Amino acid sequence: MTRREITFGVIGCGLMGREFASAAARWNHLTADIARPRILAACDTSEPVLCAFCEANSGVRAVSDYRDLLTSPDIDALYIAVPHHLHAEIYIAAIKAGKHFLGEKPFGIDRAANTIINAELSKRPDLVVRCSSEFPFFPGVQRIISLVKSGAIGRVLEVRCGLLHSSDLDPLKPINWKRMAKFNGNYGCMGDLGLHAAHVPFRLGFVPRDVRAVLTKVVQERPDGKGGTLPCDTWDNALLTCRCGEGPDSEFPMILEMKRIAPGHTNTWFFEIDGTRASARFSTRNPRTLETLFYERGKPQAWLREDIGYQSSYPSITGGIFEFGFTDAIQQMWAAYCDEVASGTSGMKQPFTCATPREADLSHRLFDAALASHRDRAVVTIDAEHHS
Ligand SMILES: NC(=O)c1ccc[n+]([C@@H]2O[C@H](COP(=O)([O-])OP(=O)(O)OC[C@H]3O[C@@H](n4cnc5c(N)ncnc54)[C@H](O)[C@@H]3O)[C@@H](O)[C@H]2O)c1
Repeated sequence: MTRREITFGVIGCGLMGREFASAAARWNHLTADIARPRILAACDTSEPVLCAFCEANSGVRAVSDYRDLLTSPDIDALYIAVPHHLHAEIYIAAIKAGKHFLGEKPFGIDRAANTIINAELSKRPDLVVRCSSEFPFFPGVQRIISLVKSGAIGRVLEVRCGLLHSSDLDPLKPINWKRMAKFNGNYGCMGDLGLHAAHVPFRLGFVPRDVRAVLTKVVQERPDGKGGTLPCDTWDNALLTCRCGEGPDSEFPMILEMKRIAPGHTNTWFFEIDGTRASARFSTRNPRTLETLFYERGKPQAWLREDIGYQSSYPSITGGIFEFGFTDAIQQMWAAYCDEVASGTSGMKQPFTCATPREADLSHRLFDAALASHRDRAVVTIDAEHHS
């Protein structure tokens, strides 16, 4: 069987650009017939980074200006994985050039940048433009999503979701662009980690009406790697308490956590939902384990721990008894993107799409309100008229 190919250009060959190249290189991992991504060309402004990428991925053409990829007729789609201050410029140029692309969060350094990206996108509904967010592709998360959609949860009591890191606890960790507001944005850790915390709740229809945010800056300066120090002016941690639902009969709190300094955590993504009929929780700390509690009056309220193993959205060669990990989630996300580009949203082999520009827009409304909430020590209503 020959599979259809989607030809790609990669803009930004750093951490995430390389993850895509790895996922694309082992497409034989998937047994599902999903259009295969073939990386034809790559661009990075850092020559050593670009050279290393092309050496590791033989046959990939090296390009020093991303605009050369936009004008290449042999390229169908792009992966754009660059620092946040470049999102608006490069995403808009890609839309104008008529290229499909998977972009990265936060999808614009701030709300103004996100708004102009979306305005350009509204002129090209034919393009498949999505935002990277891999954690929902863990099998445990997919199970919880199905459970919630089935209505088995009952009335939602509370939702908690977050992404936690700990390496910034080290004050001597050298600075990089993600710790500098001019490149990362004023959202700080919310721009960096926030869409990961918001994607699943938003997809389940949990739209925040208002937010009370507490943001913290812990480390004020960091080594610059050249013997000096530089100001570290981004928020390290964010705790957002949101009110979801409409009216007193359906309101519930949603707590979103995005932390660069959460002692002991290494990329811990978690989702927990409590309901009147059932509750469920998942954490990447125990990536094959799903915990559920089904309430029956008069019976013990006991959590069930189920090792669900490798039950991926897109079938693969890995047996169901084995473990699923970060690189698998990345590949499943890419399978969802390629499936959608090749077959359209309604023709996908499974229904869960990558994060949408609309979800990224809602995250900007939330983070913008969170900045105001922290500044004014106040509850701030979220301007979400398009999302109700
Ligand atoms: N989905 C995830 O789990 C995840 C994880 C980390 C980062 N990210 C996101 O991915 C994006 C990139 O982050 P990263 O960690 O890969 O950063 P990185 O610093 O490792 O890589 C970014 C690359 O972009 C290159 N670059 C800068 N300007 C460029 C330009 N004009 N043209 C071409 N290349 C250019 C840099 O030289 C660098 O190699 C960000 O939006 C970030 O928030 C997502």
